[in-house]
Amino acid sequence: MEVSFKVNGNAVKAQVEPRTTLSLCLRDNLRLTGTHVGCEHGVCGACTVIVDGEAVRSCLTLAVQVEGRSITTVEGLADGDALSPLQAAFRRHNALQCGFCTPGMLTTAHALLTDEPDASADRIREVLSGNLCRCTGYVPIVEAVLDARAAYGGPASDGAAGHAATANPTAGAGR
Ligand code: FES
Ligand code: FES
Repeated sequence: MEVSFKVNGNAVKAQVEPRTTLSLCLRDNLRLTGTHVGCEHGVCGACTVIVDGEAVRSCLTLAVQVEGRSITTVEGLADGDALSPLQAAFRRHNALQCGFCTPGMLTTAHALLTDEPDASADRIREVLSGNLCRCTGYVPIVEAVLDARAAYGGPASDGAAGHAATANPTAGAGR
């Protein structure tokens, strides 16, 4: 069956099975492979995309469910070759590590800061705790998101709040 929706501002169509997940449709049909698939069970957050402004797990969403809706993937955050302020902050703070969880971290943080540009460090940790990272203690990631708030109209980072705690009790367990 055919499904039509918008991705990163572009109208697209894809031929899918009714059971095809949005994550597979994005990666296989549309070749938007920035969206990563880890657990495929809604646990890890690697597959997070933004659907009509809301961060959703694309592995738990069927492609047919986004008919007529507007999706932003990690590819849509940058402006051509120019990184978005959030992406630039991740690079500046060495928050990228191996990069597998990074697309989901970026889309989750982008959705958060779009709604809550003044999100506190604790709020950022709370939201990002739904995204599992096996590389890091989350501190650089939280610092990068704090630093990016100003680009969304929020406060400038004081540069210290991200050191207070890790975002997830599993941090570091995957080494
Ligand atoms: S791949 Fe979707 S939450 Fe893990
Ligand atoms: S950067 Fe490697 S899993 Fe998060």
